[in-house]
Amino acid sequence: MSKPVYKRVLLKLSGETLKDGDNPISPDIVHEMALSIKEIVDLGVEVALVIGGGNIFRGLAASRKGMDRATADYMGMLATCINALALQDGLESLGVPTRVQSAIAMQSICEPYIRRKAVRHFEKGRVVIFAAGTGSPFFSTDTTAALRAVEAECEVVLKATKVDGIYDKDPKKHADAVKFSHISYGECLQRRLQVMDSTAFALCMENKLPIIVFDFFEKGSLRRIIGGDASHATTVGQ
Ligand code: GTP
Repeated sequence: MSKPVYKRVLLKLSGETLKDGDNPISPDIVHEMALSIKEIVDLGVEVALVIGGGNIFRGLAASRKGMDRATADYMGMLATCINALALQDGLESLGVPTRVQSAIAMQSICEPYIRRKAVRHFEKGRVVIFAAGTGSPFFSTDTTAALRAVEAECEVVLKATKVDGIYDKDPKKHADAVKFSHISYGECLQRRLQVMDSTAFALCMENKLPIIVFDFFEKGSLRRIIGGDASHATTVGQ
């Protein structure tokens, strides 16, 4: 097996992926995710995790239906905390040490977000799960991922999706959709490709932080990317 090409990565997971039918958090899926993450932790890669909350509550969707946007976003942030604890449990049941750090103080449940403490956790081989988004409404968990990755000096944002990369048009609707193996930040903007929301994308671009979009559930996909093979994914960079 090839050696890891990254020392520290931020893995952005979607909350939706935890869902199985009516069950917002499937223990089997959590277990499967934890196994994939353990595989790269065992290689010595330092891993930061950000997970969305869409399996439980979507702030933006609720605000479109009339709920106050800030309140809806706070509810969404709480949903990410529930998912973070599920992932913590899944990882620790496999013996992977973790710490959850929340951007909203909830000290009976987890640590508060402290950048320098997070960095120490990485150095000690702990997976740090960043919960509660940025702690402020009007930001997405993609933005949280980009922000925490920049703050913690991660080398790459690995955006796990259900699709194996970025296409020129929706591959579910167009049979002739073409996948990019690499695309520049500029071309993404020019083609209006929604890799991440604009705030998250701008943070990555300004800080020259590469993004890799990949299908998390394709067997061995995370491991391959860590080994430097992103041929099954799309890389976004300069
Ligand atoms: P080191 O000092 O590097 O060894 O880190 P550590 O996380 O092991 O030490 P610490 O004494 O800070 O934490 C011990 C345990 O308490 C860990 O499981 C932390 O996640 C947890 N912990 C630390 N701070 C808080 C907090 O504010 N709230 C909650 N709920 N748990 C905390």
